[in-house]
Amino acid sequence: MRTKIKALLSKPEIGHNVTVKGWVRSFRNDRFIAINDGSTIKNIQAVIDFEQSDEQLLKRITIGASVAVNGELIASMGKGQSVEIKAESVTILGDADPEEVKLTILSPKKHSLEKLREEAHLRPRTNTFGAIFRIRHAMIFAVHRFFNERGFLNIHTPIITGSDAEGAGEMFRVTTLDPAAPPKNDAGEVDFKQDFFAKETNLTVSGQLEGELAALALSDIYTFGPTFRAENSNTSRHLAEFWMIEPEMAFYELADNMDLAEEFLKYLAGYALEHCADDLEFLKQRGIDEDSKKPQAERNEMDLMERLRFVIENDFQRVSYTEAIEILRNSKPNKKKKFKYLIEEWGADLQSEHERFLVEKHFKRPVILFDYPKNIKAFYMRQNEDGKTVGAMDVLFPGIGEIIGGSQREERHDKLLERIKEMDIHEEDLWWYLTTRKFGTVPHSGFGLGFERLMLFVTGMGNIRDVIPFPRTPGSAEF
Ligand code: 4AD
Ligand code: MG
Repeated sequence: MRTKIKALLSKPEIGHNVTVKGWVRSFRNDRFIAINDGSTIKNIQAVIDFEQSDEQLLKRITIGASVAVNGELIASMGKGQSVEIKAESVTILGDADPEEVKLTILSPKKHSLEKLREEAHLRPRTNTFGAIFRIRHAMIFAVHRFFNERGFLNIHTPIITGSDAEGAGEMFRVTTLDPAAPPKNDAGEVDFKQDFFAKETNLTVSGQLEGELAALALSDIYTFGPTFRAENSNTSRHLAEFWMIEPEMAFYELADNMDLAEEFLKYLAGYALEHCADDLEFLKQRGIDEDSKKPQAERNEMDLMERLRFVIENDFQRVSYTEAIEILRNSKPNKKKKFKYLIEEWGADLQSEHERFLVEKHFKRPVILFDYPKNIKAFYMRQNEDGKTVGAMDVLFPGIGEIIGGSQREERHDKLLERIKEMDIHEEDLWWYLTTRKFGTVPHSGFGLGFERLMLFVTGMGNIRDVIPFPRTPGSAEF
C-alpha cells in the first residue's frame, strides 16, 4: 500500500513500514534520495545502504526518475526533516536519462519563468509550479464551497454560443466550414446556414446572459467555466482562455452585489491562508527573493501572507467613478505626465496604471469603483437616473488592477431595448434575454471574477501565464 508523502508527514508513525512512490528530486552521496510525489511541497528523504545496494540500481536513481521505496519510517538525524525512510527496497518505475534531463528544466539550477513556460509539460515537477497548482485546486474548491454554503446553484452555461455577451466583438469563431472554400449565398457572402449549427457561432466570452436566465428562476446561481477572448492584449494580466466565476442574484441591487464580492474575495484569501500554508510560505519566500533583486521602489511593502491578511482585515474602499476621475486628474503622475494615458476628462476609460494608482498609492487598500459612464460599459448594465452612468462596479486589487467586473442589470424591458438599439446590437439575437424582462422581471445583479487574476493575487506571481497550467495567449497555443 502506497502512502502519499503529505499523509506520511502530517501524521508520522515512527517504526511503521511504509511505501512511497514519486519522482527523484536529488540523490546525494549514493545514499540520500529526496522524493516528491506532488501531494505536498515537502520531499521525503529515503536513506539507502549503498554498500548493500546493487551498483546498477544506484546508477538508475537519477533526477526525474520515478521510484517506489519501501522501508521503515524513522526519526531523522539530519537537519531539514523530522522523519525519513530507512530504505529496504528501491524499485525504479521509470528511468530518466541524466544526459537528457540535463537539457531540461528538471536540471537542478535556477531557471527563468520564461524557460519554465517553454517547458510547461515539465513545470508541474518544480516546487514553484507544484505550489501554484495545489493552491489553484484549493481555490477552485473554495469557490464551490463558498457558494454552496450560501445556497447558490452551480449552472453550466454553454461554451459554444451565438451571442456576444460583452458586445465587444472579441470572439473566436466556431465553424466546420472549409476556410478555403466556404459555401456562399446569392449575395456572395459566406452561407452560415450550411454551417454545423446553421448559424454563426463563437466560443463564449461570458456565461452571464444565460446565468441571468437561471437566476430569474432559481434566485442565486453561479457559473465557473472557461471563457475565451480574442483580444490582442499581450500583457501579464490577459489570457485568450481563462476561467471565470460569475454569480448572479435575483433581488440584489448594486450595494448587495458589492457586499457579496467583498465577502467572496475575503473568504478566498482566508481559505488560502488556512489550507495552503506550506505552499504560501514557499511562494512568500520566493517573492522576497525576487524583490531583493529589484530597486527599492518596486518592492512589495508587505509579504505574501501580509497582503492576504490585509485584504481580509480591511474594508474595501467604495468610490464612484466620478470621484475617482477627480482624484486621478489631480494626482501627481497625471500632472507630471507620468501616466501613459493621461486623465483629461470625465468619460475616460481607466487603464490598469490608474486602477493601481488608486489602490496602491491613494487609498492603499482594495477599491470598489461604481457608477461608470454608460459609454464605456456593456449594454446590459442598469441605467442610472442621471442619464450618463450605469450601475457598474469593478473591484480593484493591489498589483493587479481589475479583479472583478460586475453590475446591477437593466431589468426594465424598454430601457434595455433602447440601449440595445443605441449600441447597434442585433436585437433578434437577444430575443430570449429580452423575454425575461417581460415575464416577472426583478432587480438583479452579478459579477465576474477572473480566476487567474485571483490566482495572481493569492500566489503573488507576476505573470498570468504562470498561474494556469497551459496558457493561451496571442501567438501561443503550445501543448
Ligand atoms: O469585466 P469582464 O469583461 O466582465 C464580464 O465578463 C461580465 N459578464 C461579468 C459579470 O458581470 N458576470 O470580465 C470579468 C473579469 C475581469 O474583472 C477580469 O478579472 C477577468 O474577468 N478577465 C480576464 N482575465 C484574464 N484574461 C482576460 N483576457 C480577461 N478579461 C477579463
Ligand atoms: Mg471589466
